[in-house]
Amino acid sequence: MRHSVVAGLGSALPKRRVTNDELAQSVDTSDKWIVERTGIRSRFIASDGETTGSLATEAARRALEHAGIDAGEIDLIVLATATPDQTFPSTATKVQAALGVNDCIAFDVHAVCTGFLYALSVADAMLRAGSANKALVIGAETFSRILDWEDRATCVLFGDGAGALVLSAEETEGGILSTKLHADGRHNDLLFVDGGPSTTGTVGKLRMKGREVFRHAVVNLAEVLNEVLESAGLTAADVDWVVPHQANARILDATAKKLGLPSEKMVVTVDSHANTSAASVPLAFDTAVKDGRIKRGDVVVLEAMGGGFTWGAAALRY
Ligand code: UT7
Repeated sequence: MRHSVVAGLGSALPKRRVTNDELAQSVDTSDKWIVERTGIRSRFIASDGETTGSLATEAARRALEHAGIDAGEIDLIVLATATPDQTFPSTATKVQAALGVNDCIAFDVHAVCTGFLYALSVADAMLRAGSANKALVIGAETFSRILDWEDRATCVLFGDGAGALVLSAEETEGGILSTKLHADGRHNDLLFVDGGPSTTGTVGKLRMKGREVFRHAVVNLAEVLNEVLESAGLTAADVDWVVPHQANARILDATAKKLGLPSEKMVVTVDSHANTSAASVPLAFDTAVKDGRIKRGDVVVLEAMGGGFTWGAAALRY
């Protein structure tokens, strides 16, 4: 049986780190409010010249290096983003060109903060079906470009960054064990951008009813985590690490409690990265692999929830 094995990981952050105190100089907020309500202490913000595509390319290069795989071996690139460099072509093809990969399948996937789970699931299915053998799965965002910097309820929550996984199809047990995806478009108006090429003709700004999103997030994430564990034939006791979407430390605590998982098993990077949407799961995954927490053979569960609503989870043996 072919399985998609995680051969390597990489991530990239913009150069500029912005603290809560720095934000409090331009919007009516405080380090105390942001830390207490979200757990966020700082975030990285892209400067001119740093784009979703450039961060994605840097993350992809690091993942290839970690995997010990040459870019020329990649035959599939799936890139999750809600903030592409341009309306078209896809940012995946920009990464492809930057890496010097001449011919492969390359496309973007858009499921906002759940984008990386959608991209991973699509790439896994294509690898298992034999459509490709080595894939780059990337989550990359520059949400700073779609924030309303006068809306304190949203502008303090997000950051920019990218994370990438190299998946390799192998005749082996392990790798990605199960993925589960969901969407419910009835909640479009709780988290959205008020622009787009086919409506206003502008890029638009992010709008969110935070408290309602929070309520749905805890319920949906606990449900999809139980669903993915059951489908992988695992229980919560088998899980070594959960790598959650990094939206709010309080959501992470509430989800862990609902599942009966000790909070030490949750990888938390929201304090230093804030919410980087589709980049947050691979960015946190790479951080925990590189600092030695997640080791080869560990059972790792990934989860995310975001605009749409969309939500999903994946269980894998690293
Ligand atoms: O990645 C997609 C998924 N997104 C999420 O998961 C986000 C989920 N939601 C959340 O994380 C939380 O709902 C927030 C962090 C966005 C907000 O926390 P909250 O505890 O739900 O606060 P709230 O929106 O109910 O606001 C409480 C108060 C309000 O003041 P009043 O009306 O009580 O006087 C806000 O105006 O806090 C005020 N407030 C702020 N105060 C200082 C809102 N933003 C700020 C701010 N600084 N930045």
